[in-house]
Amino acid sequence: MWKWGLWVLYASMLFNPSSSCYQCFVEVEDSIRLCWGHVLTEYNIRNVDSCFKKLGNIFNNNQKVIEAGRVGKGYDQKLKDILNAEIMPMAEEFDKKMNNDTVYDERLLTAADNFIAAAFKLPRASGCFPPCGFQASGYVYNCITCQYDSCEFPLDCPTKNITVLENNRTQMRCDVPFPLPYEMKVVWRFAEEIRTQQVDQFEEVTVGIDRLYSIPSAGLRHQGTYQCEIYSDQRSLVRLYYHLIVIPQVVVGHSELQEIFDLSLLPGGQIVPVPGGWSLALLRLPPPSLLTACLTSLLLLLFLSLGILHWWSIKKEKSDVEQAEDDPNSRCPVREIYLLQ
Ligand SMILES: *[C@@H]1O[C@H](CO)[C@@H](O)[C@H](O)[C@H]1NC(C)=O
Ligand SMILES: *[C@@H]1O[C@H](CO)[C@@H](O)[C@H](O)[C@H]1NC(C)=O
Ligand SMILES: *[C@@H]1O[C@H](CO)[C@@H](O)[C@H](O)[C@H]1NC(C)=O
Repeated sequence: MWKWGLWVLYASMLFNPSSSCYQCFVEVEDSIRLCWGHVLTEYNIRNVDSCFKKLGNIFNNNQKVIEAGRVGKGYDQKLKDILNAEIMPMAEEFDKKMNNDTVYDERLLTAADNFIAAAFKLPRASGCFPPCGFQASGYVYNCITCQYDSCEFPLDCPTKNITVLENNRTQMRCDVPFPLPYEMKVVWRFAEEIRTQQVDQFEEVTVGIDRLYSIPSAGLRHQGTYQCEIYSDQRSLVRLYYHLIVIPQVVVGHSELQEIFDLSLLPGGQIVPVPGGWSLALLRLPPPSLLTACLTSLLLLLFLSLGILHWWSIKKEKSDVEQAEDDPNSRCPVREIYLLQ
């Protein structure tokens, strides 16, 4: 009955809204043993109540103790070990023995300092990295709630915009600022043309471990939203979004073609007349003897052709007349030949 009364007293002292690592790790039984012989020096009377208050002041309302307790996932057991290593020997020592409160003050303050020093050496959680993703490693022990705090962010990250010139290369990375488990799966999905975060709009593109998505030569068909999702142990950890806009290269392509056309027309790409070239060559005349010979041969050739033509026409005329005598219907061509002559 007496013990139960102490328990209630203890509970009312320690389990207040601003609790601390002490109440997370030290059993009530041990606290009662520890405070059993607490003597108020001023009045020389035993007072357990004020011992509990002291514990509260030294551990619970001590911001340094709470900070020291903000260890990474899995290290709460280590915190418990450190604190019990300080408190348990005292509980053994002080149980059923009277001790002045000055002794308690000194011993408890030393215990708190030792706890702070040792707990700060434990691995810290890297913290929470906003704005998205399930961050398991971001869990931090909280000595006020005696629980790990999780980073409460949505799985979906905000969409990032990327623009690329048509035919140029572009890359997207499924990178997050927080640590990821070693075993994981990366799924890339694509929603053509649209800008979206709606799961049902996407189609799976690749599944594997590749966190880099490359488009060697962007075309208009690559335009749309890309989603990468990271899984570990069947659990989704994060979803990243990239909205890709491909800028058509029509104008650039046209001027490039024009340039190539111009260059192929004029080798060297310049129009510079050779000095004294063509004009002089045209003005220079051959010697007169050569000119005469040329003209003579040209005239001879002309006369010869005229002679042949004349002979041929006479011959043709004769044969046509002979033919016309045989066939009366073929007179017109004959008359035509006469007229031509
Ligand atoms: C507690 O302090 C008082 C006054 O200083 C002293 O007389 C007494 O012996 C001390 N008791 C113990 C148990 O140390
Ligand atoms: C991305 O583009 C969309 C329109 O396509 C625009 O509303 C948004 O503000 C852009 N975001 C950034 C970060 O530029
Ligand atoms: C696109 O590609 C061309 C050559 O292929 C390069 O000169 C240019 O810098 C690239 N532009 C961008 C924005 O990467």
